[in-house]
Amino acid sequence: MNEPQDMNRRFGIPGCLSFEEMADGFTVARVTTPFATATVALQGAHVTAYEPKGQASVIWLSKLAKFAPGKSIRGGVPVCWPWFGPHAGNPQFPGHGFARTVPWRLVEAKALPDGRVRLEFELVETEATRAQWPHASVVRNIVTVGQELEVELATTNTGSVPFQLGQALHTYFTVGDIRRATVAGLEGCEYLDKVDGGKRKRQEGPVVFSRETDRIYLGTRGCCGILDPVLDRTILITSTGSRSTVVWNPWIEKAEKMGDFGPDGHLGMVCVETANAAEDVITLAPGATHRMAAQYRVVAAPAG
Ligand code: BG6
Repeated sequence: MNEPQDMNRRFGIPGCLSFEEMADGFTVARVTTPFATATVALQGAHVTAYEPKGQASVIWLSKLAKFAPGKSIRGGVPVCWPWFGPHAGNPQFPGHGFARTVPWRLVEAKALPDGRVRLEFELVETEATRAQWPHASVVRNIVTVGQELEVELATTNTGSVPFQLGQALHTYFTVGDIRRATVAGLEGCEYLDKVDGGKRKRQEGPVVFSRETDRIYLGTRGCCGILDPVLDRTILITSTGSRSTVVWNPWIEKAEKMGDFGPDGHLGMVCVETANAAEDVITLAPGATHRMAAQYRVVAAPAG
């Protein structure tokens, strides 16, 4: 499954969409539109690059990111599904779920009349995924590349009993210098501070970064911005179907321990994750579909 030759034959669109093997057994889709270029790995339906024309990359990818079957990629837009963080009942199960480390299949690729390119992926179930997630469900990740990048995660409960779903689009954004970047739009929201024993706090003013930051903001409003005075831009993040936003930067020590950030890697990134996490998990009724979507766009306004 997912061999580049076969994928090019079935889905390739000359000048718009092609497939190649980026590393052994690791196929990626390369998307070119009049507005932007993007790369999406078939493992995890994981966007690894998005560059609007004339802009520095919006999405951060570690220089030491590993591209190997079954390994998670440090950077890009990892899909955390069907739980966020550690599994509630079994510490052996992978943090942030299994969706980011298993193959997905491309079910549709389209060049839209307005020039955007849309790719729709579906997670491939296996015995191993069923062992961790015994619920009948279908999950699709729909990636649309244009003047903005849109990622939509759609989960359908195909069974006969409700289940609880935790999820995140764990997006790594490029910033010029995290020490000068701020995140606006979360003012007044309550958050769980994971670097302070999960204490519940309230955000006053924009989020600033001077140490490890790992927070789950609750009841968020679906719009925030990364203000970047160094790259002289603001990245606007809008979302639907999400009630929580995770803000994360590991800072120096934790990044070193992770081993795949690279020296000073933490300085050039911030994760602002569109999520349903902690007390904001979703209960999905039989037959229902939940759609969580995020749009990322560079707006001209410099950080003020
Ligand atoms: C964030 C979590 O979403 O992801 C952090 O809030 C975690 O606690 C980070 O460290 C990275 O997770 P991972 O599994 O990709 O190393």
